[in-house]
Amino acid sequence: MIKHSAKYFLTFLFLCNLICLFGQDQIDLLIEKMTVEQKVGQMTQINLGFLSSSVDQHDGKVKKIDKEKLKNAIENHHVGSILNTAGTAYTIEKWHRILTDIQDIALATPLEIPVLYGIDAIHGVTYTKGSTLFPHNIGLAATRNPAIANQIAVATAKESRASGLRWNFDPVLDVGRNPLWPRFCETFGEDPFLVSTLGTELIKGYEQDGLSENTAVASCMKHFIGYSDPKSGKDRTEAYISDITLWQKHIPSFKAAIDAGASTIMINSSMINDVPVHASYRLLTELLRNKLGFKGMIVTDWEDIIRLHERHKIAKTPREAVRIAIEAGIDMSMVPNSFSFCEHLIDLVKSGDLSEDRIDASVRRILVLKRDLGLFENAYPEKDAVQNFGLQEYQSLALNSARESMVLLKNSGQVLPLPKNKKYLLLGPGANCLSALNGCWSYSWQGDKEDVYPKTSRTILDVFQERFSENQVLCDVKSDYSNADNFNINFSDEEISNVDYVILFLGENAYAESPGNIDDLTLDHNQIELAKKAIALDKKIVLVLIQGRPRIISDFSAKMDGIVNAFLPGSMGAQAIVDVLFGDFNPSGTLPFTYPANSGDLLTYDHKNLSAMVRTAPNKKTYGGYHPAFKFGDGLSYSDFSISDFKLNSDTISGDEKLQISFQLKNNSNVDGTKNIDVFIKDHFATLAPDVMNLKAITKVFLKGGAQKEVFITLDKNDLFFFNAKGEKLLEDGFFSVLIEDQNQSFYFKN
Ligand code: GLC
Repeated sequence: MIKHSAKYFLTFLFLCNLICLFGQDQIDLLIEKMTVEQKVGQMTQINLGFLSSSVDQHDGKVKKIDKEKLKNAIENHHVGSILNTAGTAYTIEKWHRILTDIQDIALATPLEIPVLYGIDAIHGVTYTKGSTLFPHNIGLAATRNPAIANQIAVATAKESRASGLRWNFDPVLDVGRNPLWPRFCETFGEDPFLVSTLGTELIKGYEQDGLSENTAVASCMKHFIGYSDPKSGKDRTEAYISDITLWQKHIPSFKAAIDAGASTIMINSSMINDVPVHASYRLLTELLRNKLGFKGMIVTDWEDIIRLHERHKIAKTPREAVRIAIEAGIDMSMVPNSFSFCEHLIDLVKSGDLSEDRIDASVRRILVLKRDLGLFENAYPEKDAVQNFGLQEYQSLALNSARESMVLLKNSGQVLPLPKNKKYLLLGPGANCLSALNGCWSYSWQGDKEDVYPKTSRTILDVFQERFSENQVLCDVKSDYSNADNFNINFSDEEISNVDYVILFLGENAYAESPGNIDDLTLDHNQIELAKKAIALDKKIVLVLIQGRPRIISDFSAKMDGIVNAFLPGSMGAQAIVDVLFGDFNPSGTLPFTYPANSGDLLTYDHKNLSAMVRTAPNKKTYGGYHPAFKFGDGLSYSDFSISDFKLNSDTISGDEKLQISFQLKNNSNVDGTKNIDVFIKDHFATLAPDVMNLKAITKVFLKGGAQKEVFITLDKNDLFFFNAKGEKLLEDGFFSVLIEDQNQSFYFKN
């Protein structure tokens, strides 16, 4: 019996090798046949808008795709990849028509190499009409729920693939270290562990079991590296990040994603320490390839090669910019609105300024990705993938994830949940606006096209009107967020006198990338003025913040009885907000960032002891310390949880021994609820100044009213190291503490 099974196993191994060998040979054979022009074409990504009649890139005016431009790109320039749309979102049917036209042209060329199409689907499929949009990452991070992140990625991959799109420019693995940054909402917040944990779940959800199924898409971790901490807070501006900080804060999420099997990576448009990342051999080859072991395909961000010449001014000519970027390690250029990249790269190779071997390496990675995505077997949209689009389960997932993302920040006098038999005045621009609920990358780049949202979409006012009788709801908020009327209270004293509760929906309207730059994190002046008018009504008042970043509300927050931070909750966000306000869902979300009290105090939770010190001046004024409006990890519940009997299995651990943490968690209320638990480690002393604490584990515990449960957390020495400037992990003997909520136990670690 054993003899037979060994024989079968050896045959199986031989066949596997043959397939891999064949797979690789097939690609090597193809590359051997390719001209320089054809190779360069594979390294070129062009924007669909450029291949259409005149179109404003993200302006949403959908124009007809120009077949002649399409043929010119693919037949004459051998373009191997196309991205985006010619404006706004398409139906699945339209996507299939466009993609079929593209592949028909590609497969009619001599080499028959299919085109790889890339799309942004960062919280659901941005550019497919009727897709489900989920909470943006900043809200997803508040759920502390890796499983739900994975489910969202699977759903997004299925709706992408149903659209015929097999490469998703997601997840964003940038760590949100500066809340001014307009892409803060695209991050999982300020902590590298949280970004790594949730980001890798998105990778696994997208890539599934190796791209072979028609439910998977290639992921694209982005934006490598250091994009999210610009000195000024403005998008695509210079960042100054030490090597230690790079290793401690910015590299971990990318390393985790590489280990989780991310197929591609997109590069940071900006610069670190005066070096544009797209030009950095040290970052793109020595670090990303050699140290972190990334073997997949590296794509630029938008127009970022020519910008080495036009913006960064480190390349005297566009041709020099191409040489620098390819030398640094770029495989594919998102040009995307010209063929200049092709012309310069062909010239660089033919003149010997760049070796053909160098571009062969890039072409190989691109063709391997196309092979792994099944494009050589079937380049066309898969009809049987369409059945996975628009499933009801995605709506439920969108609702549940939005509910879990809500963070209850304040609940004075238990004003929340609100009783359902009262009268409510809804005020503020967020009360009746779909764009505000969904934010960027929502059926358009900026997300601010109210009329392109599915007709089934609901604003908060819609949901109130569906759930309450007409005489219970007072609201005249317009769907146009910035309408001047939205910042006044346009009701008579008599109408106001009948109101029991004022609910104020403030925050931000949708924006994406640089258009979202601000000069002050403080909430807009007109919104603060509206809040003060609302307070003057002298009613019980609840604030709901619908925003991508923590806008400062210190001017008036003390007068709010309740505060809910709803982030950008997506397609089912309105329903989720109303569910939380009226107790149909017990909030459990916890902040994934520090919520500043003042625009000049943007300290993150994992600051140094220097900043933690509170001192007293001669005039008795105290200064220093970490005193935000709300702390990293803050989040209340309608339940009442307490921790007791907190203990460690030992006060000393050495080598590979495990540190077992246990405690009793009790729900002292009669309201069933879920408790997010953040587990921090504090390193008391280290040769490199330690942070005051670092998140090392998360868990969620559901408890019925009155129930109690013993919770176990296991840590080990891998939770105690820190990086030095060379990326070496240092693990030093010494005292550490475990911190959970108000519990704190120290222990000694010995190597
Ligand atoms: C944008 C963004 C990037 C996106 C790309 C393609 O400028 O920086 O995140 O994937 O262009 O749309």
